[in-house]
Amino acid sequence: MNLVTPQAYARSVAPQAVTGLPADFRWGVATAAYQIEGAAAEDGRTASIWDTYCRVPGAVVRGENGDVACDHYHRMPEDVQLIADLGVDTYRFSLAWPRIQPGGRGPANQKGLDFYKRLVDELDAKGVTPWITLYHWDLPQELEDAGGWPVRDTAYRFAEYARLAYDALGDRVAHWTTLNEPWCSAMLGYAYGVQAPGRKNFGEALHAVHHLLLGHGLASQYVRGAAGGNPLELGITLNLGTATPETGSEADREACRRADGLGRRLYLDPIVHGSYPEDVLADLAAADVELPVREGDLEIISTPLDVLGVNFYRGTLFSGVSEDGSTVDPEGRPVTRAVPRDLPRTAMDWEITPDELTDLLLGLEDDYHLPTVVTENGAAFDDTVAEDGAVHDEDRTTYLADHIAAVAAARAQGADVRGYFAWSLMDNFEWSYGYDKRFGIVRVDYDTQVRTLKDSAKWYRDTINLTRNS
Ligand code: FCB
Repeated sequence: MNLVTPQAYARSVAPQAVTGLPADFRWGVATAAYQIEGAAAEDGRTASIWDTYCRVPGAVVRGENGDVACDHYHRMPEDVQLIADLGVDTYRFSLAWPRIQPGGRGPANQKGLDFYKRLVDELDAKGVTPWITLYHWDLPQELEDAGGWPVRDTAYRFAEYARLAYDALGDRVAHWTTLNEPWCSAMLGYAYGVQAPGRKNFGEALHAVHHLLLGHGLASQYVRGAAGGNPLELGITLNLGTATPETGSEADREACRRADGLGRRLYLDPIVHGSYPEDVLADLAAADVELPVREGDLEIISTPLDVLGVNFYRGTLFSGVSEDGSTVDPEGRPVTRAVPRDLPRTAMDWEITPDELTDLLLGLEDDYHLPTVVTENGAAFDDTVAEDGAVHDEDRTTYLADHIAAVAAARAQGADVRGYFAWSLMDNFEWSYGYDKRFGIVRVDYDTQVRTLKDSAKWYRDTINLTRNS
């Protein structure tokens, strides 16, 4: 295969107004607590599963961790200034559970809450709307020791933490996301073992799925009830892609059904329709897995939402046939194989597929009728710093331009998509890839913690500005 290099992908794109977006379209940047905050052992914060996982030899590139990260905990006001200078109206960030409720049980830690109160103050002062994610993967280690997400009690612990957070900030923050990408928490964390806590047990991972969704539902019920007359936009963020069959064959279409079932419908059907998809339950039963659903759970999980957060990085082409021509793997399970395409790729080796973002948003509109916001989209590339310190990241700018155009195209065709947040505000700790992969539109020099706007940040700022004034 002739792989297209990022250099061949990049074009020179001038900022221009994006047509077809409403005046109140939300523009944002996104981050997550463990990826940027640092101050891992300060002001009462205890360890999360990521602090532990980073210490497992071989788990993270070069054994890196989030102890210091972007030192955002100490540089927060200057970072908020940076956000305001970009001209975005919304900042999506996550709260660190072990900062707010050390150990995952008991009362709130005032110093932890104070940090987020100061952050909200700074954002308010600069006219930037806070968009809070309650859980972006940092489960308190003590709760993992007690069984983690495969255990039902963790859902109730999460709801209690959500209560502490909402009670402290709910009068000032209207935008609440319960979970970020539960598929990653469950599958990468408990089935494939490539993210914290690093377990490899498919059955446990599926139990984690149900308990994450239950936690989402319990937290949603609390927040809905507690909001009273306060403005509230409540949602969940899922990592979603598209599944395209390689050919029209039955085997390839079945592979897509399975991928879409385990990746998208397993989450959205219970959340929106109050039931798990029958075909996925049947596939799971064939693998001897049963979801630990109790009476009443699905009503809780389907607590009404205002918005669906969509994190999009790429779509995938699937085949139901292995490279050696078989439709079952050595364990007798049906083959669901991602087929690499001759498309440009990012530094993560992810194919660049903006048209599939349009397809995804239109499909979500048809299947679930929820307003959506793209809560993450962006790309890692191997940035180079020019002699004058600038980063001419045409590849990233092209990526953003193509995906924003894809969002506008989806809107033009009837998808109710209301916002776009770039991942990420700044380079940060990219989980198992450590600091190797840079997703920021702002460069971070980890030796000095100096932040520098990359060309993509300037392009984003100017594009937002032109669009607003068009
Ligand atoms: C998403 C995560 C986010 C970041 C991006 C690249 O899956 O939500 O924290 O790592 O991928």
